[in-house]
Amino acid sequence: MSRQDTQGAAEAPWTARVLTVFPEMFPGPLGESLAGRALARGDWRLTVHDIRDAAEPPHRRVDDAPFGGGPGMVMRPSVADRAIRLVEGLEAGRHTLPLIYLTPRGRPLDQTMVAELAAGEGVILLCGRYEGVDERVLEAHGAIEVSLGDFVLSGGEPAALCLIDAVVRLLPGVMGNQTSAGEESFANGLLEYPHYTRPAEWTGSDGIPRRVPDVLLSGHHAEVGAWRLSEAETTTRIRRPDLWARYMRSQADAMTTPNPAPARRPAPQPAQHSDVAHRGKEPAEAPRSKDRQTA
Ligand code: ADE
Repeated sequence: MSRQDTQGAAEAPWTARVLTVFPEMFPGPLGESLAGRALARGDWRLTVHDIRDAAEPPHRRVDDAPFGGGPGMVMRPSVADRAIRLVEGLEAGRHTLPLIYLTPRGRPLDQTMVAELAAGEGVILLCGRYEGVDERVLEAHGAIEVSLGDFVLSGGEPAALCLIDAVVRLLPGVMGNQTSAGEESFANGLLEYPHYTRPAEWTGSDGIPRRVPDVLLSGHHAEVGAWRLSEAETTTRIRRPDLWARYMRSQADAMTTPNPAPARRPAPQPAQHSDVAHRGKEPAEAPRSKDRQTA
């Protein structure tokens, strides 16, 4: 489904532009299943840009030794800068799409940030390898540093794949069943309740018969809803005290705000606005021949 601007004219679909020294890693898993079908339909667009194309021949060196010594190599500022500038959409030396550099030093990716990005027009993702990218080029381009979590990957590419996957499934028309995005983990600040399907009683290899909770067989929608909320709250309280504390604060705020929404009802959280999704309007453009246009 293509988006429409205020005059009803079709806008470019949400676009991910990935800068990497391993372009063959894309679309990878994003070419399959939900994201892959949406890509084939044109619900979103992926362009992949080989950072090595921005390096000077004959050696095309992308990295150099770190000042101050130490292990590993650092991506050279001139190469990273040229690679970023070669991506279409530059206005007065800056991109209108947010430039995200994937690094364990970044702000942890969460569902709020994912929703903000999905509400924007797209993203440029700079994937680091080696020890990282020269700090000055990140400063010069106002890069937003984003982390997938407190662990170290061998490069930014798997993180870029995850970020794109999380955004794409929120784009209009991508998920067949729109209600499930609003009910899943994090959408209302809670982890998701448990799921069951047939048969109503099942015995696993441990020999213990297990029944589906009776309430789910009752056909009583209000009771099912109350049970699911209670399960979601219990799971969140036990597994994620950090999320639980935030949820409790938001419930308390809802009680004290005039004309509040019903307090104990799980509702999708509106994305809090930050600078992550928008830098301005991206101009119309023609694909550059050197970019690998995946869709
Ligand atoms: N690159 C290496 N590790 C990473 C992480 N945890 N998140 C994002 N990018 C990374």
